[in-house]
Amino acid sequence: MRPAKLKYKKLVLVCTNERTTGKECCAHKLSFELYQKLKLAIRDADPEVRVSRTGCLGNCLSGASVVIMPDDIWLGEVTESDVNEIVKLVTSKN
Ligand code: FES
Repeated sequence: MRPAKLKYKKLVLVCTNERTTGKECCAHKLSFELYQKLKLAIRDADPEVRVSRTGCLGNCLSGASVVIMPDDIWLGEVTESDVNEIVKLVTSKN
């Protein structure tokens, strides 16, 4: 193991977990569409911020869930209408 040499200063995780059991999950709250929109918006605003899809973040009842690291910001009930606000949040704490 060795430290990875990456160019990113922040990581934004968007839960796109999908459950087929009928239980609540972020995928059923359009989180993949949110991920795609957020990825493009943040890439334009600051290419040193990485946006990645992730599995369950343990906030399923209040999804879609987004986490911003290393700021330790956890967001719930996120929709595509929040993309601009998240971009501001991510880029204002540089
Ligand atoms: S399914 Fe997204 S937080 Fe659990």
